[in-house]
Amino acid sequence: MVEPLVLGIETSCDETGVGIVRGTTLLADEIASSVSEHARFGGVVPEVASRAHLEAMVPTLERACSTAGIRLDEVDAIAVTAGPGLAGALLVGVAAAKSLAVALGKPIYGVNHLAAHVCVDQLEHGKLDEPSIALLVSGGHSSLLLVPDITQDVIPLGQTIDDAAGEAFDKVARVLGLPFPGGPYIDQAAMSGNPKAIDFPRGLTSARDLAKHRFDVSFSGLKTAVARWIEREQAAGNSVQVNDVAASFQEAVVDVLLRKAIDACLSNSVNTLVLGGGVAANSRLRSEAQQRCDEHGIKLRVPSAKLCTDNGAMVAALGSELVSRSRPPSGLTFPADSAMSIKLPVAP
Ligand code: KG4
Ligand code: ZN
Repeated sequence: MVEPLVLGIETSCDETGVGIVRGTTLLADEIASSVSEHARFGGVVPEVASRAHLEAMVPTLERACSTAGIRLDEVDAIAVTAGPGLAGALLVGVAAAKSLAVALGKPIYGVNHLAAHVCVDQLEHGKLDEPSIALLVSGGHSSLLLVPDITQDVIPLGQTIDDAAGEAFDKVARVLGLPFPGGPYIDQAAMSGNPKAIDFPRGLTSARDLAKHRFDVSFSGLKTAVARWIEREQAAGNSVQVNDVAASFQEAVVDVLLRKAIDACLSNSVNTLVLGGGVAANSRLRSEAQQRCDEHGIKLRVPSAKLCTDNGAMVAALGSELVSRSRPPSGLTFPADSAMSIKLPVAP
């Protein structure tokens, strides 16, 4: 059987992504980012992001077709992020995808952004093991998922009860005077810092917290602890060692995420862990995950850094898996759902 040719569109935040895959082979992954337009506000401005998606959509689509060497009418299906994400931003992608589906007479799949972050690993490391545990860490989400079937059965085990992991990176970067988005800058600064310099708190890891929040995470206490520590040092007239603070903060985030992810694998007797989302681009998270998985005989799958941050290829990857498994398309009435539940990998 010829593998399906699928176009994927991603507009949930500040990246306009268009990906094209055949089966699990990546043919094009084009991105236009509006991140520089948000930098001076220290966070993504929804209206600015929506406008940027509108302007970037057609040129990005054209670039993707040209890179893949295909015409739009050759695709077998169209996939688009239906949620979760910024409502106005999602709407641009969903409207574009629906217009293409109608004009070209092709089936459309409205897919879940988080499920797409998990599925993208198939483009590099072959079919996902079933079940897998997925640790999804991005600017908007931190989730631990049990994934028996990425196209129709995803079970949330835990999530953040306050800030997402990426949000914590971005906020701590801000107090350290690093640019937005802060994750990559903290990663870089931490490389020449001492991760043991400051013993920052590990949220929701005490026996009492574990009873109620075994697989949940919390980063707001850590964020506050970093800010207070910097204030105290400054008040005492000491110069703040940015690299040590970055490394110690990063160590606390990585430690908590991995303790919970490994516990999820062991307690569910699952021996594959998949990482996904922007924070999975973090070099310390990647190396420490490998070490702890090796210690426990768990297979680790991590997409390359470029496929961890938001992109269209991940949406195409999940679309392709839906087509391969003969799952029914979404129909034309599904909404852009800013709060779409991960229990719905694809909109009905
Ligand atoms: O998945 P993503 O591109 O967008 C969302 O769906 O949110 O994730 C963006 C987040 C930002 O918070 C960014 O600071 C973080 O991922 N990030 C990183 C790194 N690269 C991106 N965090 C830590 N280390 C990195 N190397
Ligand atoms: Zn994302």
